[in-house]
Amino acid sequence: MRISVFGMGYVGAVCSACFAKDGHQIIGVDPQQVKVDLINQGKSPIIEEGLEELISAGVSSGNLKAVQNVDEAIEGSDISIICVGTPSRINGSLNLDYIKLVCEEIGAAIKNKQGRHTIVMRSTVLPGTAQELAIPALEQSSGKKMGEGFGYVSNPEFLRESTAIFDFYHPPKTVIGETDTESGEIIASLYSNLEAPLIRTDVAIAEMVKYADNAWHAVKVSFGNEIGNIAKKLDIDGQKVMDIFCKDQKLNLSAYYLRPGFAFGGSCLPKDVRAITYKARDLDIHTPLLSSLIPSNNEQIDQAFSLLKQTQKKKIAMLGISFKANTDDLRESPLVELVEKMIGKGYDIKIYDKCVSIAKLVGANKEYIMQHIPHVSDLLDENLEHVINHADVIVIGNNAEEFQNIGSVIKDGTHIIDLVRIKNLEDKPLYQGICW
Ligand SMILES: NC(=O)c1ccc[n+]([C@@H]2O[C@H](COP(=O)([O-])OP(=O)(O)OC[C@H]3O[C@@H](n4cnc5c(N)ncnc54)[C@H](O)[C@@H]3O)[C@@H](O)[C@H]2O)c1
Repeated sequence: MRISVFGMGYVGAVCSACFAKDGHQIIGVDPQQVKVDLINQGKSPIIEEGLEELISAGVSSGNLKAVQNVDEAIEGSDISIICVGTPSRINGSLNLDYIKLVCEEIGAAIKNKQGRHTIVMRSTVLPGTAQELAIPALEQSSGKKMGEGFGYVSNPEFLRESTAIFDFYHPPKTVIGETDTESGEIIASLYSNLEAPLIRTDVAIAEMVKYADNAWHAVKVSFGNEIGNIAKKLDIDGQKVMDIFCKDQKLNLSAYYLRPGFAFGGSCLPKDVRAITYKARDLDIHTPLLSSLIPSNNEQIDQAFSLLKQTQKKKIAMLGISFKANTDDLRESPLVELVEKMIGKGYDIKIYDKCVSIAKLVGANKEYIMQHIPHVSDLLDENLEHVINHADVIVIGNNAEEFQNIGSVIKDGTHIIDLVRIKNLEDKPLYQGICW
């Protein structure tokens, strides 16, 4: 394919050299004369293992050249990949000046070009950038409509410097956020030689995925460091601890616990997070990440309550009160906290939970609920339909089987606040997921 790559930095130079190696016709574009000259001399503008060899081979084969002239690059290509920088401003906001400028330049250059041109955003840009900035800039400067005169794809880059060429050929995944199928097909075919999972989705999801990835990577590093710092102070080898931690691919390094939803709870997580952060304080170790977990969890309870308040209704059906389905353990259930908040504000609540019968609760579990909601027996009702019919707002708190098909029982005009994502309800007019 004929491809122009805008920005000959770490991402652009590596992509250009690798695509050229794969047999594509690449024109690199950069306003910096020195980078353009280096590439045309077969040299690398950055230090990256193996890159100079690839650039040199690309230039010798005639598959790779660099220019400063945007019109020349657009005329000689059918796809433009944007790899310009998106640095931080002093206040932490993302500087999209280079993105705006490059979109305006590409737009102006495709104005008089015949045929379809596909523009690919490889730079890391915040969700909403395509809709709010890149596509409007392209449309305005080209005088063409997206989907007619040009296609737009978000295709975030996952390579790491120092292993960039290996990463290009072995990415963890290829994500294509497309505005139309044809553009998605064209860009998907570019990566057909890679073994990585290819995910086609919409543009905003692709933009957001990159931030979820990088935020997660940062969480992992800081988490490992905080555990290591506590361990060292206790004369324990933190590396050995994390080696064992990483062997658990069921709960630790897995998709488990990673779906957006309601707060954590139960008899272990809150207690143990409190204990380890207290211990860290005792050892004079700062653990800002671990210490943020309980406040972050409380935010999620507040978030559910705020959705409830926005309905301006007072009659509530709480479906589920134990912290997950198929248990009667109420200790530190965030749903109990949510109910307490509602009681405090005078809500009229009925609760259904198949597993919870106060008569059968014993020990610490009974003590906990009696301390928090002493009149809980008055709120519990064993008849799911009664509870649903009582309500103007249904809050679905856990994933119990009997909640999966309640759609037909819910009367029109009832709000649904789903904390767990029950299928079959999302089409209801007054449905809201807590974070979807
Ligand atoms: N570096 C990485 O490891 C990495 C990995 C994944 C994603 N990213 C993202 O990729 C993007 C590029 O990162 P980078 O590290 O390659 O940046 P970089 O600063 O190394 O390179 C950016 C290049 O863009 C050029 N440029 C600026 N305006 C231009 C224009 N109008 N036309 C053509 N070229 C222009 C600059 O001269 C520079 O050479 C960023 O959004 C970054 O967050 C970087």
